[in-house]
Amino acid sequence: MITLNSYSNVNESIQQLLPKLTALIEQTIEVKKCCALALAGGNTPKPLYKALSKERLAWEKISITLTDERWVAVDHEDSNENMIKHVLLNKLAAKPSFIPLKNDAITAQAGAIEAGKLLAEEMPQLDMVILGMGEDGHFASIFLGVSNLNALLSKETTSKCIAVSPMGKQGRISLTYSYLLSAKTIFLVISGEKKKAIIHAILDSTESHQDYPIYKLLNQTVCPVHIYWHA
Ligand code: 6PG
Repeated sequence: MITLNSYSNVNESIQQLLPKLTALIEQTIEVKKCCALALAGGNTPKPLYKALSKERLAWEKISITLTDERWVAVDHEDSNENMIKHVLLNKLAAKPSFIPLKNDAITAQAGAIEAGKLLAEEMPQLDMVILGMGEDGHFASIFLGVSNLNALLSKETTSKCIAVSPMGKQGRISLTYSYLLSAKTIFLVISGEKKKAIIHAILDSTESHQDYPIYKLLNQTVCPVHIYWHA
């Protein structure tokens, strides 16, 4: 199931999304006594994370990882771990467990195995995902044109994360499409006219848009995807 919710500003989007997200987290903890979240990096979801940090949840029962990470020091301005700790984790009264993708390996390729083992041990299955999307239709670090795009997007991939070398960008680690789909719900949080046009091009036509990696996510029936777009 794919739903599209459009709002004129970020506050309206958060007002609608946040209660749904926190209700799902509470329901999951009620049943499983734990909840595994994967959170996107980038800029768009920051206001949502700031609002989420004020919510009274059983944070000690929540595990958080990232949908992807740039292979930079965790105090680097480009580090998604750095952003999540500043915008969310360091603001919480109780501490969720944070499962990093970045480790001491020199390269993302060398670090991906250890990162995958940690995810398999600590978060074998996701419950909710907050995803972003680039203006090129990438999500997580699943970029068109990367050499291992098929492995990243394959439903048969058993790896939880894979190292990625997007053209002209730092080395990264991305969660795999198959691992993202292990969630019960994915929230795609996006903004701006270019991203809206990509979503409508995919949802409003039967044509294949394989040139946008997000096309696959919006044409699957395994995991519900709720799109929250704001101007
Ligand atoms: C990253 C993100 C990435 C992001 C999109 C959108 O590490 O860059 O995880 O997938 O979600 O690039 O980024 P913005 O929200 O900043 O546009």
